[in-house]
This record gives sequence, structure tokens and C-alpha cells, in this order.
Amino acid sequence: MDDFYLGKYATGEAVKLCFAYKNLLAGGEPGSGKSGLEQTILAQAALCVDTKLIGFDGKLVELMQWADVFDVFVGPDMRKALATLLWVQRLMDERYAKMSALKLRKHVPSQTDPFWVISVDELAYFTSVAGTKVEQELFSALLRDIVARGRAAGIIVLAMTQRASWDIVPTALRDLFAYRWVGRCSTPGSSDVALGAGWVDQGYNAMNLDPSKPGDSFLLAEGGVPRRMRVAWMSDAEVAQVAAFAAQLRGRKSVV
Ligand SMILES: Nc1ncnc2c1ncn2[C@@H]1O[C@H](COP(=O)(O)OP(=O)(O)OP(=O)(O)O)[C@@H](O)[C@H]1O
Ligand SMILES: [Mg+2]
Repeated sequence: MDDFYLGKYATGEAVKLCFAYKNLLAGGEPGSGKSGLEQTILAQAALCVDTKLIGFDGKLVELMQWADVFDVFVGPDMRKALATLLWVQRLMDERYAKMSALKLRKHVPSQTDPFWVISVDELAYFTSVAGTKVEQELFSALLRDIVARGRAAGIIVLAMTQRASWDIVPTALRDLFAYRWVGRCSTPGSSDVALGAGWVDQGYNAMNLDPSKPGDSFLLAEGGVPRRMRVAWMSDAEVAQVAAFAAQLRGRKSVV
């Protein structure tokens, strides 16, 4: 999970992030490059032997190519979404009990007890579109708990949202994400919702990003200042190849 390559900073330098014990939030208008970023991260997570993956995809098609790589794949199905998050929450609690018994502050991943990467595309679908209001609130509460407590237990969340608004990403949730990425936004308000309040006033306004260049974005990595970057792009054929290889590594059938 170290040194995942995400693209290039405006300076030409490679963007490399470590995803061990780190969550990522990605916001931006439709077509701004969120799923492209997600594919780039998943392609690398899928090739790590100490990592298992869960995909949530309200649209089905964004993550479909990873279907054979995911240990659980949740489509537009609120019941399965809730059952999956409840399972993850139980896993997290079990890990904390073990860590406490062993006096460990961080889960040490292994092939039998790996990192779990949970990728949600698109957050707003599960928190404001699918299911009933009660189910949506339960989804939000479970995800918030997993984002808040899951890191040290080796459970990593990648959350993508078109709607970077406070009702979808309340400040208390946003501030739990160590990495925040924002592609082009249609308002300065949504830029600040994704990156953090006040960055627009300091000149980091995702509304000014180039709409003809999806993947053009700002990345805020823990504690720093946002940096302009362009996400690396994998074509569908490239994703299919990596997914097939990763599926084989995981002892699954090949997707091509
Ligand atoms: N980093 C990139 N470099 C070049 N082209 C890109 C990049 N990211 C995305 N694109 C192009 O833009 C299109 C839309 O990107 P993507 O699907 O990632 O957007 P999105 O933010 O997930 O949109 P939505 O909210 O509708 O799901 C892609 O199909 C691709 O053609
Ligand atoms: Mg998308």
C-alpha cells in the first residue's frame, strides 16, 4: 500500500501516496475524473497481496471491471450495502479486541488478515438516493464509524462524490479523511466542502480547474497545502488487463 502512483503534480513531479492506514475523499462535478482516480488506486491495491477489496457502485458500470477482484461487490442494492458495512464494522471491532489483547495500536496486515480497501462510488447514491431515509442514515452512520475508527484496524475507505455539499459530506466526516482530492467543481462552496473550509480564499478553488482536462485537480495530503495535479489515466483495456491479472493472483477466474 506504499507509494501508489496517482499522476503528476503541475511541477512535473510524480504524485505518490501511501494508502496504509489512510482514507481518501474525492469530490468533483460529473466527468471531473473521480472514477479515473479510483481506478488508478484500485489497480495498485488489487496487486497487493496483503489487501482485500470491497466495491460499492450505485452505477454498476464504474467498478464492474473489478468484479472478479472484489471480495464483495455491492451494486445499487441498499440492503446488501448495509449488510456489508455491518460486517465491516464487526470485523473492525474484532480487530480492536485482538489489538487490545496484544497491546498493539495498529493492525499488522498479513495475507490471512489483510488490509481491507472499501471503495464507494458514489457516496451520495447510498446516503441520499437509494433506500429509505432510515437506511440512508444508517449507511452514513456506519460509514462514518468505519472512516473514524477503521484506519488503525487496517480498514481503508475511498469515497467518491459528485455532490460535494455539506449534507452529503458533513464537516465532521470530511475532516476524518487524511487525503482529500477535488476535481473541477461548479461552485467554490463545493471545492471547500471537499478540500476543507478556507482553501478557496487562499487561492485553491476547484471551480477554476480546466473543464477540458478531466483529472486536473487539487490534492490535499495530511497536514499540507493543496497541490495541483493531473491524475494518471488508464484506458478500459488497461484496467481489464490489470483486473484479469489481479483476479488470477487472487485465485479467481480471469475477466478477459
Ligand atoms: N486523468 C484523466 N486523464 C485523461 N482523461 C480523463 C482522466 N480522468 C477522466 N478522464 C476522461 O473523463 C471521463 C470522465 O471521467 P470519470 O468517469 O473519472 O469522471 P467522474 O468524476 O467519475 O464522473 P461521474 O461523477 O459522472 O461518475 C473519462 O471517461 C475519461 O474519458
Ligand atoms: Mg464516476
